[in-house]
Amino acid sequence: MSTVLEIADLKKLAQRRVPKMFFDYADSGAWTESTYRANESDFANIKLRQRVLVDMTDRSLATTMIGQNVTMPVALSPTGLAGMQHADGEILAAQAAAEFGVPFTLSTMSICSIEDVAAATKKPFWFQLYVMKDRDFVRNLIERAKVAGCSALVLTLDLQILGQRHKDLRNGLSAPPKFTPKHIWQMMTRPQWCLGMMGTQRRTFRNIDGHAKGVSDLSSLSSWTAEQFDPKLNWDDVEWIKNLWGGPLILKGILDEEDALMAAKTGADAIIVSNHGGRQLDGAPSSISMLPRIVDTVGDKVEIHLDGGIRSGQDVLKAIALGAKGTYIGRPFLYGLGAMGKTGVTKALEIIAREADITMALCGKRRITDVDSSILHKD
Ligand SMILES: Cc1cc2nc3c(=O)[nH]c(=O)nc-3n(C[C@H](O)[C@H](O)[C@H](O)COP(=O)(O)O)c2cc1C
Repeated sequence: MSTVLEIADLKKLAQRRVPKMFFDYADSGAWTESTYRANESDFANIKLRQRVLVDMTDRSLATTMIGQNVTMPVALSPTGLAGMQHADGEILAAQAAAEFGVPFTLSTMSICSIEDVAAATKKPFWFQLYVMKDRDFVRNLIERAKVAGCSALVLTLDLQILGQRHKDLRNGLSAPPKFTPKHIWQMMTRPQWCLGMMGTQRRTFRNIDGHAKGVSDLSSLSSWTAEQFDPKLNWDDVEWIKNLWGGPLILKGILDEEDALMAAKTGADAIIVSNHGGRQLDGAPSSISMLPRIVDTVGDKVEIHLDGGIRSGQDVLKAIALGAKGTYIGRPFLYGLGAMGKTGVTKALEIIAREADITMALCGKRRITDVDSSILHKD
């Protein structure tokens, strides 16, 4: 544990503890994975400005995201199948986030249901919505999120159809896993994971199972998505969902200035500059490279968040410096979860907070709310 210093350490541990098909599900992008890689490498290309002899006492990462207090501007991204990285994964991650003071976002495609997470946590969490063709099911999901006291709805716009993810297709990914010799071998070689899974009833998509009509093959994520997700989703639907929900709304998956303008017009509380962690349109630019243009276009109209490629507290600071009010981490918390359950998620958050805090000080700032482009080195 003491040797876990950075997110990469949690990733190595997760790879040893999570069956290959589920580790690969997290550690993959679409097609050639070029966008997945660019999300990380474009952060590395941004340089920080070193300052000296500035008072570094009394520092704080505390700020707000959509008006809600956060101990640092880092929410947990919605991630499908988190409950397959570790038994009861969504519950554990939600508890870790709540204790740390940052938002947890539950995916529509989670293993633990909205009700499971609500019953196991004391603070409100955020709910991410995928829009299905079955509008009664969508209405019902929104209602369930309201009943559970969710304090924001994150509407994902960039997955009307699923990007082609080669690792998942080659692995024959499903939840619960299939029992072919290959899959049995992958699980048998991860005994701790198996023990955890045997100790829980939560092994399928519990937001959907028993709630949606005519679901034929829920276990196959790709065929189920193709069958159920609405490829006709449009801006009028956003209006419909906004009215149905009636609470804070965040639009996720904006990567283009024109779309950002459309999103700002909806009156949403925030947009997330995102390419779904490089899992949808391979060949699209990294999210951090698009952030400045989107901030220039709509920064005065809507709060801007960013996800994709954040692997350290330094990356968080760079995104804030370029105009994001908040950020999200997907894989970093999933690696923590796979590595050591709730403790691992807390560890991921602690790593990021410590890195952000030290970096902020070395850049000559004491409050994250004072961080702006002046901390970036310009050639
Ligand atoms: C394993 C995995 C599952 C994901 N599932 C969802 C999902 O169900 N809904 C969604 O809106 N985004 C989903 N995403 C995308 C994340 O919300 C987020 O955009 C992305 O992970 C951010 O990039 P990062 O992993 O580099 O931090 C998923 C990402 C991963 C890695």
